Amino acid sequence: FPCEVIRNFSIIAHIDHGKSTLADRLLEMTGTIEKKDKGMNKQVLDKLKVERERGITVKAQTASMIHSFGDKKYLLNLIDTPGHVDFAWEVSRSLAACEGALLLVDASQGVQAQSLSVFHAAKDRGLKIIPVLNKIDLPAAQPEVIAAQMQSIFGIDPADVIKISAKSGIGIEDVLRVIIERIPPPQGKIDDPLKAFLFDSSYDRYRGVISLVNIQGGALKKGDKITSCYTRKRYEVVDLGIMYPEETPTTTLLPGQVGYIACNMKESSEAHIGDTLHRVGVPVEPMPGFKPAKAMVYAGVFPVDSNDFLKLEESIKRLTLTDRSVEVMRESSSALGQGCRLGFLGSLHMDVFRQRLEDEYNANVIITAPTVPYKVIWRDGKETFISNPTDFPDVTDSTVQVREIQEPVVKASIIVPQEYLGEMMDLCFTHRGEEIDHRYLDASGSEDARIILTAIIPLGEIVTTFFDRLKSRSSGFASFDYEDAGYRPSKLSKMTFLLNGKPVDALALIVHKSAEDEVGRAWVKKLFKVIPRQLFEVPIQAAVGRRIIARETLKALRADVTAGLYGGHYERKLKHLVNQKEGKKRMKKVGKVDLPQEAFYDILSTK
Ligand code: GTP
Repeated sequence: FPCEVIRNFSIIAHIDHGKSTLADRLLEMTGTIEKKDKGMNKQVLDKLKVERERGITVKAQTASMIHSFGDKKYLLNLIDTPGHVDFAWEVSRSLAACEGALLLVDASQGVQAQSLSVFHAAKDRGLKIIPVLNKIDLPAAQPEVIAAQMQSIFGIDPADVIKISAKSGIGIEDVLRVIIERIPPPQGKIDDPLKAFLFDSSYDRYRGVISLVNIQGGALKKGDKITSCYTRKRYEVVDLGIMYPEETPTTTLLPGQVGYIACNMKESSEAHIGDTLHRVGVPVEPMPGFKPAKAMVYAGVFPVDSNDFLKLEESIKRLTLTDRSVEVMRESSSALGQGCRLGFLGSLHMDVFRQRLEDEYNANVIITAPTVPYKVIWRDGKETFISNPTDFPDVTDSTVQVREIQEPVVKASIIVPQEYLGEMMDLCFTHRGEEIDHRYLDASGSEDARIILTAIIPLGEIVTTFFDRLKSRSSGFASFDYEDAGYRPSKLSKMTFLLNGKPVDALALIVHKSAEDEVGRAWVKKLFKVIPRQLFEVPIQAAVGRRIIARETLKALRADVTAGLYGGHYERKLKHLVNQKEGKKRMKKVGKVDLPQEAFYDILSTK
């Protein structure tokens, strides 16, 4: 397949607009996969269990198809991109492997927040964009209205819009035709030095990392010695081929082609999305704009039963082999024992990881409150990043040499029907939004017009309760996306919780000044509910520096646990004593206070 008959494209869309369904139809129509029976129509492209349960694509999957058109055979490479805001950066990187993108929009829902962000990502990379309206079979579909909307938002000519139903198969031929007609072929030359763009990777237990590459120039074959522009590590290609739709070995990968390579890369942390590979000794100009993914949400992970730490650590290690974007460090807490501190791309990434840990490794874990990386600027001008509340300096202590605390902020975009504008402005406001602004997406005056609201919001607010509230306060109608907007100075301090005067390290939080009272009171109430009464009175307090923000007092319990039991059934008494003993084993001591590990689970798993 020379370049003229190759097309490299992505499908870009807001979640649920039908990306996987369309990918399936394209693979079926080109005979790459067999048509499946109705009923068991599960997308081949979504593999992980958690993806299926949540209906989102976390790990991108790529496939090649061969399609006859006119008198030629074409090689169409579908480069799939992950479908969530936490992975936005990866999406935009993988787009560099394509020349065109199908911008898929649900004809009943219209343009949503991620339609906008993926459109801009594709536009910025100079890709040919093909607008496609999906789900025209739905009674609620308004293809003309949405096409007009796409014209006013993206400047797309309604005559260029392809109208399809990926579910019932309407218009799929048209999609294949316009991919061939409108998307330019790749440009690489076979005589150029080898230049392979790494846009995705996965992990195989036997062969190590499998990388997906797009050949920008030269040819790649088995036995070739290659190296990475970013890590400078060297490898030898042991296997390569195309994804058709599973791995299919070939002798070479030629310019414009997309395929997999196995090269004894041992850990997924070596495969960086956006990296460029070249032949050892024949350097090339790397693809522009490369930077490694960085963690933006951190949390401690501890086993519910502290004897399970090694097992937990092992499970985490194995999971991170397949997910290069998770950062791992050891952490120990006096309250929770040994654990790991993990860094994630975002809060969904964290949820997905936790669920995989629970599903695949049966790990029962306690996850501490998520924290973002804060920047501390010291009086001597030095800067440090702190992502663990335990390490946060006490800013209320004037002997501590802190000049300023800064926190990461994002530019959030929310798209909602106009009647929710007030609710959404209020939501942004209560989450410390600044520069709140809005404009109409549709011609103003129309009844169901929608609005795009933008605001600068601290990332720390987004990773906790913002998303759930956004959904509930807009009755599920709001769509949301965000991009990095740097760091801003902020009035933040560390809040600690004291039991009988002793701080509990695992419960420390970073809180904004304006929320201190509310957060302090709410957490103290929660602690009051889950902490069992002790033989003595226990004050539960929230403090910022030396200042006590909130307090509850747990009354003392009587010594004999059986004393309160009705009657004198011996067996029942005995059972109770045994239970009490069992419970003792899993108790943690915080000062003089006995705390069951489960109490932490209860405190930390409810928002
Ligand atoms: P992510 O993987 O989360 O990005 O979602 P997706 O964009 O891949 O969406 P998916 O293909 O999983 O489709 C979402 C839902 O829309 C599914 O329930 C599909 O059955 C349904 N759907 C997709 N295409 C059509 C269509 O043309 N018509 C109708 N009625 N439903 C469709």
